[in-house]
Amino acid sequence: MALLIYSPTHPVADWGAAIRALAPDLDIRLWPDMGDPADIDVALVWKPPAGLLPSLPNLKLMQSFGAGVDGILADPNIPRHVPLARVVDGNLTIGMTEYVLLHVLHFHRQVAAMQQNQRSGRWQWLPPVAASERVVGIMGMGTLGCHAAKKLVDFGFQVAGWSRGLKAVDGVTSFHGDEHLDGFLRICNVLVCLLPLTPATRGIICRRTLSLLPRGAYVINAARGGHVVDDDLLHALDSDWLSGATLDVFNEEPLREGHPFWTHPKVTVTPHNAADSIPAQVAPQIVDNIRRLQAGQPILRLVDYSRGY
Ligand code: NAP
Ligand code: GLV
Repeated sequence: MALLIYSPTHPVADWGAAIRALAPDLDIRLWPDMGDPADIDVALVWKPPAGLLPSLPNLKLMQSFGAGVDGILADPNIPRHVPLARVVDGNLTIGMTEYVLLHVLHFHRQVAAMQQNQRSGRWQWLPPVAASERVVGIMGMGTLGCHAAKKLVDFGFQVAGWSRGLKAVDGVTSFHGDEHLDGFLRICNVLVCLLPLTPATRGIICRRTLSLLPRGAYVINAARGGHVVDDDLLHALDSDWLSGATLDVFNEEPLREGHPFWTHPKVTVTPHNAADSIPAQVAPQIVDNIRRLQAGQPILRLVDYSRGY
């Protein structure tokens, strides 16, 4: 069984080593040393170039390096009769919750204002706001959103979630479907995006939706850059509608030199590392799926092509 590993950003040799340690019998090919495309049975990929997956005539499984699969589905010619699996990993989930908590608390505890005061040598008492007075709204109540929501509840925040289907999570007010999006947005003092990027969610953080947030709201996007209309977000920040934004993901990655987000006083930029897949931690579920393929058993963590996530 031959496994092709391709990623423009992940260290493919580390992934090869982690998988080889668990499955020494596998014939592992690290891009660009693929050999004959007809040999490849399984492709472990992240943002593959258009045409790579369709060029593998005997492909039996596509496995994403990460939780999101938009970078794979971006190629309209991928073989949709072949199963596509994604990563669901406890450590990745905890990493995302750490990221969300870090930046919600950064806003909630007014860290930016205190840092500014420190730089000016100004001792200024800032009136506290109780967590119970803030509503943190999470768009996308899946694996990541639900975990973060529960921790935010534990911290005493009011928490709301928005997803396609109604959710029952203790302490979380559930909104669902397009018809309830506006009502959800109207109450969010902090808006956290943890949606998959699909045709239905692309550009969802735009002038219209931002205008529905309460004045002074804070936006955290740790999902995909394509969820945000950059100019609309900049307008909401510059017009003082929003207090600020934390952005881990961008329409163009790496964020281009000179992009206004880099130097915007209200924006925190992180380099798409809110929650990473770590080879030693994720390799077991990838090898498990390959073993399942070999044994004719169901593949786990499958993507639903009709939903796009
Ligand atoms: P998931 O388990 O598939 O959850 C997706 C959630 O989004 C579900 O609750 C789903 O609703 C909701 N949703 C999808 N389309 C929707 C729509 N049109 N309207 C309303 N809700 C919608 O995904 P996950 O594992 O939590 O990951 C979410 C995303 O995080 C990934 O796709 C990826 O892009 C991003 N991510 C980023 C990083 C990073 O480092 N920045 C790391 C990992 C993941 P239902 O539950 O009703 O289906
Ligand atoms: C990272 O962005 C992922 O989708 O896992």
